[in-house]
Amino acid sequence: MAKQRVLSGVQPTGNLHLGNYLGAIRNWVNAQDQYDNYFCVVDLHAITVPHDPKVLADNSYAIAALYLACGIDLTHSTIFIQSHIAAHSELAWLLNCITPVNWLERMIQFKEKAVKQGENVSVGLLDYPVLMAADILLYDADLVPVGEDQKQHIELTRDLVIRINDQFGTGENSVLKMPEPLIQKAGARVMSLTDGTKKMSKSDPSDLSRISLLDPPEVITKKIKRCKTDPTKGLEFDNPDRPECNNLLTLYHLLSGQSREAVAADCAEMGWGQFKPLLAETTVEALRPIQEKYSEIMSDRAALDAILRDGREKAAASANHVLAKVKAAMGFSVPL
Ligand code: TYM
Repeated sequence: MAKQRVLSGVQPTGNLHLGNYLGAIRNWVNAQDQYDNYFCVVDLHAITVPHDPKVLADNSYAIAALYLACGIDLTHSTIFIQSHIAAHSELAWLLNCITPVNWLERMIQFKEKAVKQGENVSVGLLDYPVLMAADILLYDADLVPVGEDQKQHIELTRDLVIRINDQFGTGENSVLKMPEPLIQKAGARVMSLTDGTKKMSKSDPSDLSRISLLDPPEVITKKIKRCKTDPTKGLEFDNPDRPECNNLLTLYHLLSGQSREAVAADCAEMGWGQFKPLLAETTVEALRPIQEKYSEIMSDRAALDAILRDGREKAAASANHVLAKVKAAMGFSVPL
């Protein structure tokens, strides 16, 4: 039986942080041998907020290199850059024309980001989830592994599939495949180090709020030393009055590879003074191999270019096939 298809992506805006890693990339890596995987660097999404043209291309390469450094294996997975495949923008346009504006206006991420942009909200920011739907649908993806914050966007994608298939499918022949979100419980929402009620985010103005995958050991140690805690002695998961405690224990559980039960038992009597150095050391050791591999990959640009060229070819074959199917279903003429 053919393997199920997976598609996911990360925006090349700033450095990736532990939320991106534990909520998404690590899960891609862990399950990649079970699926036929497509992982893209979604650079067209990165321009939905003001961006610096001088660093966009370099950031995209850096994210592709980080995918590989985190363990994406090209025997199971294809990696590529979204803007290298024109079908993403084209399908987004076709989907735009059947998407009610009010579906987009109620997206939580749009509302949050729009507040931050003030007067500067672009049509692209509103339209962002439609482009994301195009990313997913062009690859006939069965599963979309993401963190919790992307769930609503995948629900919108599913609504668009129903709409397209209802309007343009014929009988048994659906036009687009219905995808499902794949969200792991632990790590789905990694919280800020400076406020356990807020998501860890690339756009938080404080660098102390997140650990980036490329932070050097002394920076990681400093950030953990300074992170917010509480005055209660003994550490525990799931106490709603102790969001920082739950977040830091979850990080320790995921990065140490120890079970939740073992962590809960080991840390039940610990104070922060004992726990923080333990978490810092565990984080440094978990990120060390990724950082070493990243430097290696970045030192051979020709090899990375070749990987992205192959990825583009493979991804384009799938994307162009689905795009042609949608255009035919919507009644476009075929150029002679
Ligand atoms: P982006 O670039 O914001 O984040 C990339 C991935 O990281 C996850 N994530 C988190 N997980 C846990 N805790 C956090 N604090 C945290 N912050 C981010 C995100 O859920 C995501 O899985 N719209 C997407 C990119 C995208 C995409 C796609 C994803 C575009 N097209 C198609 C899947 C399929 C985004 O902005 O992710």
